[in-house]
Amino acid sequence: MGWRVSGSSANGPGPDRPAGAAQRPPEDLLAAAKAAFRNAYIPYSGFGVGAALRAGDGEVYAGANVENASFGLTRCAEQSAVQAMATAGARSFSQVVVYTESDEPSSPCGACRQVLYEFAPDAEVFLVNHRGDVIRTTVSGLLPGAFGPEKLPS
Ligand code: THU
Repeated sequence: MGWRVSGSSANGPGPDRPAGAAQRPPEDLLAAAKAAFRNAYIPYSGFGVGAALRAGDGEVYAGANVENASFGLTRCAEQSAVQAMATAGARSFSQVVVYTESDEPSSPCGACRQVLYEFAPDAEVFLVNHRGDVIRTTVSGLLPGAFGPEKLPS
């Protein structure tokens, strides 16, 4: 598969860059995100999302979106992945891949950005679709001016 990689900033995708090795999504995370995608529970939207992250302990944790008849209780894929990681006892991650089969790579919603930020402001983010389009950014890049744990009095 060929990769088309775009950089991204807080203001959206930047200019296209050649797909150097460091720009491509890590293969193991992409495979885990695709596997999670296949398990997405999406009877209402039909829009599947798979996410996989590499925790500080090296383990890979994945999540899919899980919808609910009470629509507001839907859990996004990124949040499912973070919950899996935290439940296993890990407290940081270095990379996350978000996989969709949409025309453009899908960007995490605002709530997911906040949930990702809690554990890994500096993590690399790869937004990937089935066409091999990749947008690469960071958690902080997705959430400028974030309110995070460091803002609370210790
Ligand atoms: N969704 C995610 O899983 N992650 C996001 O960041 C955005 C939206 C899911 C929720 C819902 O199941 C479907 O995509 C359509 O909104």
